[in-house]
Amino acid sequence: MVEDKRQLPRHIAIIMDGNGRWARQNGRRRIAGHRAGVTATRTVVETCADRGIDILTLFAFSSENWKRPPDEVTGLMSLFVEVLRNEVDSLHENGVRLNFIGDRDQLPRGLRLGLGEAEQKTIGNERMQLVLALAYGGRWDIVQAAQRVAVAVSKGELDANTVDEAALNKYMSLGGIPDPDLLIRTGGERRISNFLLWDIAYTELYFTDTLWPEFDSTDLDAALKFFADRERRYGKTGEQVAVRTEFSA
Ligand code: FPP
Repeated sequence: MVEDKRQLPRHIAIIMDGNGRWARQNGRRRIAGHRAGVTATRTVVETCADRGIDILTLFAFSSENWKRPPDEVTGLMSLFVEVLRNEVDSLHENGVRLNFIGDRDQLPRGLRLGLGEAEQKTIGNERMQLVLALAYGGRWDIVQAAQRVAVAVSKGELDANTVDEAALNKYMSLGGIPDPDLLIRTGGERRISNFLLWDIAYTELYFTDTLWPEFDSTDLDAALKFFADRERRYGKTGEQVAVRTEFSA
């Protein structure tokens, strides 16, 4: 386990992949795989809070997942409503603040309302922030930010010449939140699948073959160990980073 808190990521993002394959391997229906995925999610949220992670962002449903068979989509939406109903009180008692990013208008009304209520209820919590990405796509996020910038410019609230990275960042879904330090993808694929494209410019990427329903606190600790062993250079040389670390230590 990584003992030195300075070596831990402040913000972890996770692509939870492999529920369907886990279900197939176990002779179950796909939705049973998603239910098993909820159990893994609970373990990971608890472990992150225990380890002192500040922000956890989970990719629960992508813009592209609407193309799945209708019964799977309906099953997932019902599952999200159920998870909110069952888990929000416990998250609240444990000091977790819940936020949602994604295209709200695409979600069923009941889920939208549940998410809004959970956000309001937990707004004052400070132990950990849990961000759920639902109906979310990285390109969608950049487009909605660009649209909002264009509206602000057309209203005269923003000068087009001053739009730089920091200005656009304010309009991104994770605008007020530090970028993820570590991105974990389970389930064996090594791609980003339109998750946080803007926000992961300097994020360390960790891929594991473990299927999401089997990902547990030992797997999370392995990812944290991987992160602690990385040297983050942000475009500088290794020597520059070593000097900076010496002086700031
Ligand atoms: C990927 O497995 C997972 C999803 C599409 C999202 C559903 C995630 C959960 C139900 C976990 C719990 C989430 C919350 C918010 C509590 P897949 O179906 O893509 O797996 P496959 O690639 O093996 O088919």
